[in-house]
Amino acid sequence: MTIEVRLADVSRSIKKKKCARKTRRFPYYSVSFPLQRLYMSCLDVFKGIGTVPTSTDVQKLCSILDGMKAEDVGLSKNLQFFKTTSIAEVTPKVVCTTIYQSENFSLCIFFLPANAVIPLHNHPGMTVFSKLLLGKVHIKAYDLVTDDNSNNDSLSPSQFRLASLKADGVYTAPCDTSVLYPTSGGNIHAFTAITPCAILDVMGPPYSKKDGRDCSYYKEIPFDALPHERAVMTEEKSEQCWLEEIEAPKEAEMEGIEYMGPQIIEARSL
Ligand SMILES: [Fe+2]
Repeated sequence: MTIEVRLADVSRSIKKKKCARKTRRFPYYSVSFPLQRLYMSCLDVFKGIGTVPTSTDVQKLCSILDGMKAEDVGLSKNLQFFKTTSIAEVTPKVVCTTIYQSENFSLCIFFLPANAVIPLHNHPGMTVFSKLLLGKVHIKAYDLVTDDNSNNDSLSPSQFRLASLKADGVYTAPCDTSVLYPTSGGNIHAFTAITPCAILDVMGPPYSKKDGRDCSYYKEIPFDALPHERAVMTEEKSEQCWLEEIEAPKEAEMEGIEYMGPQIIEARSL
């Protein structure tokens, strides 16, 4: 079975769920609908460029996301896409769908077939909430070391940046939401799907090339591969490496599909 067939299966199922809700006159306008509640809270929290949510706001969004299930965005673990554990393709393709996007925030779902990779990439000036809805995924995340004592830029050519490991583990749904911030929490991360996965991302603000928030990709270089004599180590060197910015790798290419799950009612319509 091809990846396209499995994704068509995803879309069909989402569409079916949507129709079912319509015929039952599901109360979309109610804020008790989790996706609508998430949207309304995001409106409150993300006020544009420079917004970094307070800890209260982070708790508010996490409490909604932690409770969200695949069904809340029209997905089910019974879809053929999520049952397939091995993929014949050399580079299984990641698919994404956008539930909502404004200048202040976006809600997206990423579908990763087994063995698919979202390569190491950053989120400039952004706060990102990631909720694994289905599947099992390995996440590796770094923050750039900005401590003056590290003399980051003077120790190596400028294209290499010292980075500190913040996460390196396997996550299995259902699990809590992970949060990254502009300069902490693992702003530069990579995903490798162990089984087919669906990840719901809340990004505030979203990527925007015109506003200087384009996505950059990185290659890891072992710590000992570059000079570092004067570095003041704040952590075990096994938890540090150099990151070299690279052109977007082939694995970074994603296919977009239309979101056909439960629809958000925009605030101006309420
Ligand atoms: Fe990301």
